[in-house]
Amino acid sequence: MQISISSKNLKKIILIFLVIYTLVFAEAPDPVRARNGMVVSASELASKVGLHILKKGGNAVDAAVATGFALAVTYPSAGNLGGGGFMVIHLNDGRNVTIDYREKAPVSAHRNMFLDSLGNYDPELSSEGVTSSGVPGSVAGLLYALEEYGTMKLADVIQPAINLAQNGFQLDYRTARSFASMLDAFSKYPSSFKVFSKDGEPYNEGEIFRQPDLAKTLKLIKEKGRDGFYKGETADLIVKQVQSNGGYITHEDLAKYNAVEREPVTGTYRGYEIVSMAPPSSGGIVLIEMLNILENYEFKQEDWGSSKYIHHLVEAMKYAYADRTVHLGDEDFYPVPKEWLLSKEYAKEIFNKITEEATPSDQISAGVPPANESEETTHYSVYDAFGNAVSTTTTINSSYGNKIVVDGAGFLLNNEMDDFSAKPGEPNQFGLRGAEANSIQPEKRMLSSMTPTIVLQEKKPYLIVGSPGGSTIMTVVLQVILNCIDFKMDIQNAINQPRIHHQWLPDEIQPERYALPLDVKNNLISMGYKIGRTRSLGRAEGIIIDHENNIIYGATDPRGNGSAEGF
Ligand code: DON
Repeated sequence: MQISISSKNLKKIILIFLVIYTLVFAEAPDPVRARNGMVVSASELASKVGLHILKKGGNAVDAAVATGFALAVTYPSAGNLGGGGFMVIHLNDGRNVTIDYREKAPVSAHRNMFLDSLGNYDPELSSEGVTSSGVPGSVAGLLYALEEYGTMKLADVIQPAINLAQNGFQLDYRTARSFASMLDAFSKYPSSFKVFSKDGEPYNEGEIFRQPDLAKTLKLIKEKGRDGFYKGETADLIVKQVQSNGGYITHEDLAKYNAVEREPVTGTYRGYEIVSMAPPSSGGIVLIEMLNILENYEFKQEDWGSSKYIHHLVEAMKYAYADRTVHLGDEDFYPVPKEWLLSKEYAKEIFNKITEEATPSDQISAGVPPANESEETTHYSVYDAFGNAVSTTTTINSSYGNKIVVDGAGFLLNNEMDDFSAKPGEPNQFGLRGAEANSIQPEKRMLSSMTPTIVLQEKKPYLIVGSPGGSTIMTVVLQVILNCIDFKMDIQNAINQPRIHHQWLPDEIQPERYALPLDVKNNLISMGYKIGRTRSLGRAEGIIIDHENNIIYGATDPRGNGSAEGF
C-alpha cells in the first residue's frame, strides 16, 4: 500500500509535531553553571559586583554585603539603604545563623497611630508619606554581617557601590521604564523627582544614571561605619525629611537601632533540612508548616499541575496563613507558639482535616496552641568556594518604598509600617490581616513575609532561595522547593514554572498565566474553589549545589531582569 501525503498535509504534520515537541520536551534554558562561586540577584550589575568580590577571595558574606550595597544603587525600587531585611547564613563549619535587620517602629509609635478620630483605619497613613516609615535597618544589618562573618574590609566591599553611584551606569530598558512609570508619584516629592528624572524629563534606556548624593552617603558609611548613617550628617538629613512632614523617626530612634542575630527556624522535608527566617518574619514558620502538612502526601512526577496537587497545596496554604494571622509577630513583644507551629504533630492534625473538597476559608481558623506552651522587595543568593551560603531578602516594602528620597542623602525611605496590623482584622496592602501579635508598639518590628531559605542535604547547602512578593513570598518559595525536591527539576525550571497562591483570605486561588489549564480550573471550581485574578507571583533567585559533581547551578527568575553570575 502506498501512502501519499500532500505537501499541505505534510506542513500540517510538521507543525503539529513541532507544537507537541515544544510542549513536551522544551524546557527552560539551562541554569548558569560554575565551579567556584555564584551570585544571583535581581540586577546584573549587582550580581557582577558580588562575583568580583568572590573572585578577589572574599567569602559569601563579603559578596552578599557588596551585592546588597550595589543593589541600593542599581535596583532602587527595592535594593536599599532606607529599608530592612533578613540574612540567613550557612557557614562551612556547620553553623546556621540569621541576622534580623528588619525596620522598627519609632519610639513614639503607638497602637492607634493609623486610626482616625472615629477609630477607622486610614491605609494612606501606614503606606504613604513619611508616617509610613519604620527605622531603617539595612546598613546596620549589612555592617553586622560583614564584621561577624565576613573576611574583607568595609572599604573594599562598599567601593563598587560608591563607583556605580558616583560614575553612574547605563540604564537598561526595564529600569528606565520603571522610573518613567513612577514619575507622577515622584513628582509629589521634589527630592525624589530630582533623582529619578532628568530635570523633569523621564530617563531613556541607555542613558547614564548618576546618584551623587547616594555616593556621598555611601562614602560616609565607608569612612565612619554605622555612624555614617545612624549619626551625623545622614541622620540629620533623615530626621529633617521625616519630621518636616509629620513623621515619627528621631535621632534617638536612629542611634538606638541594632541588627540582631536570631536562632533560625528549622524543619525537615523528606530528609532535607530547611533553615529559614524566624520572627519577626513569618516566612520560615509558614514555609515549614506548609511543608510539614505536604510531607503527608506522596507526589508523583505526573501529579505536577493537576487539580489534586493544587488542591493539596492550597489547603496547606490556607491553614498556615490562618495561623500567621493570629499567632505571628515580633517575638520580643509577643510569645509566638513557635515549637507547636513547627511540629509535625500539628501538621498531621491539619492534614487529617483536609478532604477531597475545598474547605471554605470561613470554616478554617487559626489553631489553638496547647496551654502549656510558652512590589517591592528583592532577594539574592550567594555561594562561595569555601562552602558558605547566604540567602538574603531585603525590602523597602512597596515599589520604591514610600517614594520619598531623603533630600541630600539620595536614598528612598521605606513604608514598612504598613506591615503592622494597624487594626485587628483590617487588611494591609497585601490583603494580610493580623491581630494582637502584630499590633503596633514602640520599637517593635513589623511582621514580615520574607523567606530567605537554605535547604541542606547531609548538612551541606543544597538549595539557596528566596523571593519578593509581599504575602506571596512564602507560597513562591514553597513551590520552588517542591519543584526541586519532589519533581527533581533543575533550578531554572523550578523557578520558571507557573505558580499559584492562596493566603486564606481572600478565599480564592490566584494563579499565574498558564498555571491553570481549563480542565484543571474547572476541576478546582467543582471542588468548591474560587479562582481570583491572574497575576505574576514573585521573582525567585536560586542556587543549587551538586556536591557530588562539584557544580554550582544558578538561576534568576524570568519574571524579573536579574542575572546569575558564577566562575
Ligand atoms: O516584609 C514583607 O513581608 C513585605 N514588606 C515585603 C514586600 C514585598 O515583597 C513587595 N514586593 N513585591
